[in-house]
Amino acid sequence: MDRYCVIGNPIGHSKSPAIHAAFARQAGQALSYETCLAPLDGFADTVHKLIDSGYRGANVTVPFKIAAAELAGTLTERARAAGAVNTLSFRDGRIAGDNTDGAGLVNDILHNAGVAIAGKRVLLLGAGGAARGVILPLLEQAPAELVIANRTLATAEALVKQFGSPLLRASEFQRLSGAFDIVVNATSASLAGDLPPIPPETFCPETLALDMMYGKQPTVFMEFAARHGATVRDGLGMLVEQAAEAFATWRGVRPDTAGVLLHMRSQL
Ligand code: ATR
Repeated sequence: MDRYCVIGNPIGHSKSPAIHAAFARQAGQALSYETCLAPLDGFADTVHKLIDSGYRGANVTVPFKIAAAELAGTLTERARAAGAVNTLSFRDGRIAGDNTDGAGLVNDILHNAGVAIAGKRVLLLGAGGAARGVILPLLEQAPAELVIANRTLATAEALVKQFGSPLLRASEFQRLSGAFDIVVNATSASLAGDLPPIPPETFCPETLALDMMYGKQPTVFMEFAARHGATVRDGLGMLVEQAAEAFATWRGVRPDTAGVLLHMRSQL
């Protein structure tokens, strides 16, 4: 049976095994998918052991996504742009790295939320690893503009320079003006119950506000956006969609995500 896993530290609460088990059942494929706890200083060793044991691939999560990009022998364009890898494929002892997070976000917005990105004003909050991973896939949808707002302006400016797209612009939170069609919170502020200090006028009734975080309760960002008229969404759909993209890469079958997303929602 083909074996896969998700590598992280910590990893105990990962939802990936349940998601991939559901995809495998749906596709009628026999495979195993477990969690794999790697020591903080032992990511590469862990990957080589998996390869030696015959694993076919692995997902990678916090804090190893950058180490995975450095370890991979080949990178997809979107993984190179992200500077981070969340999906590894092992073939003939070689390690191929991909990043499916951005495609997961885009597919969640387009197909689960049913909102087009082309021609829209899009705002990305944050300029860390989570934000960087989704910039290229968002740009590929040809928004009217993509504004990256961050607490540390210089980090957002560095990303604008790196991607070199005329559609991209950096901003401070407080200097944002006007309403956006799509607002994605890729800061880790929600983890601490914080809210990036963006103006309420960022949101209007046509806005889709998406937090990459998810949980039983809406985040403070989702509550703020909803209070100012936006339609809100958490990051569970993105999680399921990035897994679907990895499953398709590994198994050659694209899962139907709707039922799996509903199931994962019921398990929160
Ligand atoms: P991740 O991999 O989750 O993106 P990261 O690379 O550490 O984690 O990036 C965290 C992001 O959340 C950064 O954009 C950070 O802003 P700074 O670059 O100014 O540090 C942002 N962030 C974290 N806590 C925040 C808070 N309380 N308010 C606003 N932004 C915050």
